[in-house]
Amino acid sequence: MTGSLAAQRSAVAMFAAALSFLTLAFTQAAFADAEAGRHKAQVCVACHGPGGNSANPAVPTLAAQPQQFIVTQLFMFREGKRKDAQMSSFAASLSNADLNDLAAYFSAQPHAPPAHVTAPENVAAGRRITEQNNCVACHARTLMGQQHIPRLAGQQAEYLRAQLRGFKASTRFDMDGNMTSAAQALSDADIEILGDYLSGLGAP
Ligand code: HEC
Ligand code: HEC
Repeated sequence: MTGSLAAQRSAVAMFAAALSFLTLAFTQAAFADAEAGRHKAQVCVACHGPGGNSANPAVPTLAAQPQQFIVTQLFMFREGKRKDAQMSSFAASLSNADLNDLAAYFSAQPHAPPAHVTAPENVAAGRRITEQNNCVACHARTLMGQQHIPRLAGQQAEYLRAQLRGFKASTRFDMDGNMTSAAQALSDADIEILGDYLSGLGAP
């Protein structure tokens, strides 16, 4: 009980810290420099693909993600809240200006048309799951994301499944708890279908 209260307090403190950081980030966002970001991104595209369009099933596409989402995630990796054996070390030494410049660059890159083709039987089933579970309320009707909420359309299928399993098991950090809650209702079969459905979605 005490432990979970402490954990809750620490999550609330983290959320407050993130909000004040983000306020700072957006005061500075006007100065975010996508051209500087393009240079800084040279190290990133080795894994995330040219222009942030990943061809690796375990690595997310960054192209056309909302700018605020990219800044938030880089901040979480840098602060050690979100952890990944490959990604964490690349975020550790980034300055606030780097976060803003990299986010400005990747969010402005065109998303390549999805290479993934959804199995016909999962098109209607996937849409139904995203409507019944309000995914479309937060991630936007077209699932293109908004503000600090990621684009899901055209993301790598295996990456999407791994994140959903991570939220469900509370092993992926979640800034405000919303996504951990949203994942609880999903069965393993739902997660399989969602990976296939979301990954094949292109621009509306
Ligand atoms: C060695 C490979 C590698 C390099 C280099 C790398 N990343 Fe990553 N990145 C990953 C992996 C793998 C993930 C997914 C981590 C996970 O599963 O939680 C990731 C996740 C991310 C995410 C979260 C995206 C999302 O949809 O949640 C962002 C943002 C990101 N990386 C930005 C960057 C930036 C900016 C750089 C360069 C400074 C960079 N990465 C360099 C492998 C890499
Ligand atoms: C109440 C709002 C809300 C709802 C409902 C919601 N999400 Fe999310 N989702 C978020 C937020 C916020 C994040 C970013 C969480 C973070 O990293 O702090 C997120 C992150 C994700 C990610 C990680 C993607 C990435 O690139 O890292 C996936 C996958 C995802 N959501 C899928 C879904 C699916 C599928 C549903 C419906 C079953 C859903 N979400 C419902 C708010 C929501």
